Amino acid sequence: MKTLNLLTLTVVTGSLLTLTARAAILGSPHDFSGYSWNNNPADPATVCSPCHTAHHADSSVIPLWSHASSVAPSFFMYNTANVTGLGDSVTSLQSEATISAQPAGPSMACLSCHDGVTAINAYGDVGRSGYGNSGPISLASAVIGTDLTHSHPISLTYSPAIVGTGAGQDKWLWNPNTANVILPNDPNFVQGNSMTINNFLLKGQNRLECTSCHDVHNQEGTPYNITSNPKLVKINGVDSSGVGSVLCRSCHNK
Ligand code: HEC
Ligand code: HEC
Ligand code: HEC
Ligand code: HEC
Repeated sequence: MKTLNLLTLTVVTGSLLTLTARAAILGSPHDFSGYSWNNNPADPATVCSPCHTAHHADSSVIPLWSHASSVAPSFFMYNTANVTGLGDSVTSLQSEATISAQPAGPSMACLSCHDGVTAINAYGDVGRSGYGNSGPISLASAVIGTDLTHSHPISLTYSPAIVGTGAGQDKWLWNPNTANVILPNDPNFVQGNSMTINNFLLKGQNRLECTSCHDVHNQEGTPYNITSNPKLVKINGVDSSGVGSVLCRSCHNK
């Protein structure tokens, strides 16, 4: 009986993994395999190459990064002191965490297309040319832009040190190293190896970046679905009692 259960479990897990791996990027908003500008001679109609390359990569951004860096001169971060210069009246946006002066690698990777100014097919690697220029993202809702004061803070370290009631601490955050994320009530949800906030959302490095909330690869969490999860949000849906905002409530004790 026990063996039978184990066997069933293995079969179910096995097919689930296959399904997830296949679903990955194909068919998601980052599937550029059908575009004429996207044609790597070694791998025609490639899925990975708009973002990664095996050689001549810019690995200062993320592993084997292929896209050109953002051409934006600079980004205005969430707690930029001088936001009035942007015609914005918000002068007191503050975060308990220390935010990097400019977006860090995994966020810069996203912003190298989502900045609204860099062409989608601007490759950064050496030795590729003649791909034309498809221009920046045209879908207005997909443009994040360079003024990040209108977005959730990114490029900060969310460690237990900023959780608490002391000076420079926020008491309405869960301890990222011990608290588990809230599981949505969704049978397609793919669990990580560890479900603590740090391991699941912050890749074990306590870094809050675009990739803490989104997964372009569809490997972990809620898979991309044009109806139920069109924005590739890592944890979407409702908890077991039917309450939503599971992504936000996974980190914020509100
Ligand atoms: C839209 C851009 C994009 C596409 C397309 C893309 N990736 Fe990535 N990839 C990223 C970003 C951003 C990161 C770094 C953050 C992360 O891990 O999500 C990354 C990280 C990775 C990593 C390192 C993961 C880790 O945990 O350190 C691997 C391996 C990888 N990608 C493989 C692939 C493969 C294989 C494909 C094609 C099936 C692919 N990627 C397509 C953007 C992309
Ligand atoms: C990966 C964990 C994580 C997730 C997911 C997350 N947040 Fe945050 N959030 C943080 C951290 C860390 C800060 C910085 C807290 C601070 O400095 O006080 C923050 C800051 C904020 C702030 C600004 C607080 C301030 O004092 O300036 C708001 C508002 C906020 N988050 C709302 C949300 C909402 C809404 C969602 C869901 C869409 C969300 N957060 C998802 C971790 C997260
Ligand atoms: C190679 C360029 C490129 C990179 C790199 C890239 N994106 Fe995109 N992304 C796009 C384009 C183009 C679209 C719009 C697709 C369409 O027209 O439907 C898009 C769509 C999206 C959407 C859905 C937008 C909507 O309104 O439905 C989200 C969410 C998103 N991207 C997040 C990310 C994140 C997070 C990263 C980094 C991990 C990233 N993207 C990296 C090009 C890119
Ligand atoms: C704290 C979590 C969080 C972080 C960090 C985050 N996003 Fe999002 N993002 C979301 C959620 C949730 C949505 C869906 C919002 C909705 O549907 O109303 C979203 C939507 C989007 C969209 C679709 C546009 C829209 O307005 O709906 C894009 C594109 C996107 N994010 C890209 C990024 C990029 C690029 C970064 C890093 C600069 C980033 N996100 C950081 C949670 C986050």
